[in-house]
Amino acid sequence: MSKRIAVLCSGGGTNLQALIDAVEAGTIDGQIVLVLANASKAFALERAKKYGIPAEFVSKKQAGSDEAFNDIILQKLKAADADLVVLAGYLPILGRQVVRAYEHRIINIHPALIPAFCGPGMYGHHVHEAVLAYGAKISGATTHFVDEQVDHGGVIMQKSVPVLEGDTPETLAARVLTVEHEILPESVRLFCAEKLGVDGRQVHVL
Ligand code: GRF
Repeated sequence: MSKRIAVLCSGGGTNLQALIDAVEAGTIDGQIVLVLANASKAFALERAKKYGIPAEFVSKKQAGSDEAFNDIILQKLKAADADLVVLAGYLPILGRQVVRAYEHRIINIHPALIPAFCGPGMYGHHVHEAVLAYGAKISGATTHFVDEQVDHGGVIMQKSVPVLEGDTPETLAARVLTVEHEILPESVRLFCAEKLGVDGRQVHVL
């Protein structure tokens, strides 16, 4: 039974596009049934609409509070009957009511090698600036299940990239993004094929 995938985004949606491409290519045994963005101008919404995927802007401001905002997200995920939630460049911290409703069914992509350079405030260019400031020689991307702590759930996949002399946050971000676009679709493919086993913190490919 093909899995129903909901994707949450905040920005350009290149990770969403990688998922759409993998579904279109038949690599992922699933269908993207909903895209939610917390920014009305998020290009991710345009990408979804181009493929006829229901895409909605959910406003935290209109919701009035973090709690109400996440209640709306949870209600929309349930209405879409989502089996899997993917955080693809989604910046807000997901409410615990959503995390609890979808335990081991929420996958996040982080643009660093967790547990390095992650946690509150570590998103987008902040991550790559911290990597360069520290003088790290490799970086990369991580997919992981989402739990109630930030960037903390069981690691699914990681892939490294070199940090090169003269790198800027932008050149490093671009190199990391290429591996994000590899490991996120592969992680979702494995989930949809029911090939991910969870044993405490350990995630095994079955
Ligand atoms: C990028 O910084 C990416 O590393 C992170 O979210 C940001 C936007 O990604 N995952 P996307 O292009 O919106 O998928």
